[in-house]
Amino acid sequence: MTHLVLAPMEGLVDWRVRQLLSATGGFDLCVTEFIRVSQNLFPAHVFYRYCPELLQGGKTASGTPVLVQLMGHDPELMGENAAFAASLGAPGIDINFGCPSKTVNKREAGASLLKCPDNLFNIISAVRRAVPDHVPVSAKIRLGYADKELYLDNARAVEAAGAQHLTVHARTKVEGYKPPAHWEYLARIRAAISIPMTGNGEIWSVADYAKCRDISGCDSFMLGRGAIAAPDIANRIKAYDVGQTLAKQSWSVVLTMLLTYIDLMVADDATENHQAGRIKQWVAMIRKGHDQAADCFDQIKRIRDIGELRAKLSEDRDNPENQRQNDQIAAE
Ligand SMILES: Cc1cc2nc3c(=O)[nH]c(=O)nc-3n(C[C@H](O)[C@H](O)[C@H](O)COP(=O)(O)O)c2cc1C
Repeated sequence: MTHLVLAPMEGLVDWRVRQLLSATGGFDLCVTEFIRVSQNLFPAHVFYRYCPELLQGGKTASGTPVLVQLMGHDPELMGENAAFAASLGAPGIDINFGCPSKTVNKREAGASLLKCPDNLFNIISAVRRAVPDHVPVSAKIRLGYADKELYLDNARAVEAAGAQHLTVHARTKVEGYKPPAHWEYLARIRAAISIPMTGNGEIWSVADYAKCRDISGCDSFMLGRGAIAAPDIANRIKAYDVGQTLAKQSWSVVLTMLLTYIDLMVADDATENHQAGRIKQWVAMIRKGHDQAADCFDQIKRIRDIGELRAKLSEDRDNPENQRQNDQIAAE
């Protein structure tokens, strides 16, 4: 059975989104947003903020394990932080070598480390040494920084440093998030290493998944924006694998999930200033997965008050036209 991972997405996939999407089903693993390691050993509360799941055995409420992702350039400091995260109960440590952010890359972290495979080797080896044997260490890379010249060397460095798993976002840093993702490179990397590998990039539908699987030969995939746009995509992929076709979630089911997201945010003051922004950002991305999201976004894009936003989304969910469509989907 295909293994599906919910992608780490800074500013987008927090513990609430992990909770909602893992409860929707189909995901086998989640990864936190990156924790930027630059100067010191973080206190426990920082790890709990990024990964409150550490307080419940390192799993989401529905039982999906959550890896803690670290990003930084100093091998020893990365090792110390990884060891501490492991001592707090992280079920695994993932290391980010893919972040394209200008600030991060200026400080030699994220994707800029791909310019030299030794960088990957040194950081991963230090983390592997620092973390107890039973805690897996994994790395997430892109195909390169400016070009793809080093993609195999980088993948081999990840394996040689002792990582248990590699995830490859099939684009260079310079290619950013622009389609296409180069799935054919995933097959070449798989052939060059013997640790398990997850393919990532530009899977927005079950058809994309099937094509990526055929081209890459991977049996594990990470879903990022596609899972935000269509929160049930992992379930539909799993159904496809066993020869079934699951109807796409109706718009009113998606709205119910968004309303739960609001409830989770409102119950947790920490993000008060960002609440409306987070919802609008999510609805904007759902436009790619659900036609009704475009109208909804137009209606909410100027709303700043979370209560008003909640009322608008509830009204839309209870709209008889959306309910009718819901029944129609259920009957299909
Ligand atoms: C807003 C945003 C934030 C991201 N944050 C992270 C991150 O914190 N760590 C990471 O490894 N990748 C991060 N990524 C990259 C994704 O995990 C994924 O590799 C990328 O979006 C490609 O997959 P997709 O085409 O399925 O979206 C981020 C991507 C986006 C769009």
